Amino acid sequence: MSSPDRYAVLGQPVSHSLSPRIHRLFAEQTGQHLTYEAIEVAPEQFASTVAEFFAGGGCGLNITVPHKLSAFALAGRLSPRAQRAGAVNTLLSEVGGRVLVGENTDGAGLVRDLQSNLRVRIAGQRVLILGAGGATRGILGPLLELGPGELCIANRTPGRAQVLRQLFADLGPVRAATLAELADTRWDLILNATSASLSNELPPLRAELLGPDCLCYDLAYGKGATAFQRWAQQHGAARSASGLGMLIEQAAEAFQIWRGVRPDTAPVRALLMRESEQS
Ligand code: ATR
Repeated sequence: MSSPDRYAVLGQPVSHSLSPRIHRLFAEQTGQHLTYEAIEVAPEQFASTVAEFFAGGGCGLNITVPHKLSAFALAGRLSPRAQRAGAVNTLLSEVGGRVLVGENTDGAGLVRDLQSNLRVRIAGQRVLILGAGGATRGILGPLLELGPGELCIANRTPGRAQVLRQLFADLGPVRAATLAELADTRWDLILNATSASLSNELPPLRAELLGPDCLCYDLAYGKGATAFQRWAQQHGAARSASGLGMLIEQAAEAFQIWRGVRPDTAPVRALLMRESEQS
């Protein structure tokens, strides 16, 4: 048998990443002959590590914090959604390794988790996004394409939310605000795209933000509920979810781009959700 095709995720830190597990489960399920590892890379070594990986016959990379902007800068060709997001989470090489192609599957992964798994309708709904960093950039385009009634970006540093509003205004009704300015609006969907969860912190939220059937969705995931999910549960949100489903769905998008096969995410999702709840 020929040697397996090589894939990896590059990040720092990356040892906690579930991506190797997810891609190995996809490969097993679809009968694909590949390896997938997690490689810890410091920012100074990012470009040389990518070059060596593909020069050595590697087939594809996922890119996570803090390298998504560097991957964007490195790509020789960008997909329209990576171009829009200004960030790349998936790399592949084309033309015999001579062209590095950058993709962004984060937004598509979120939208699929919301629509297919959580049965959330975005069209006409009021959507609040907390945070205006790289995570928000990745999801704004795909969310706006679904036609929310209102979409607001609330950020601790107002200027960053304003910049994103201007960048995406052509796609739909997006506005920028501070949390203090949102006193009178009840939201149908609140997405936490701040990096606060990673340090177990929260932006200063008030229960009045929650609409009657509000879903609180944290783009971050961890063992058990995140700080934002716990806040949601304690303040009476109808539902909450972590970003584990998004992680699995964005991985499936990348797997399909690389291998031309769409894995069934349902069994992988059920297994990892069960393990997360038990830990
Ligand atoms: P990422 O790529 O994960 O989005 P980032 O680009 O550094 O990382 O953006 C992090 C986001 O989380 C920012 O919107 C940041 O707010 P500022 O722009 O004001 O820095 C937000 N954030 C991080 N910690 C936060 C906290 N404790 N409370 C509120 N917002 C926080």
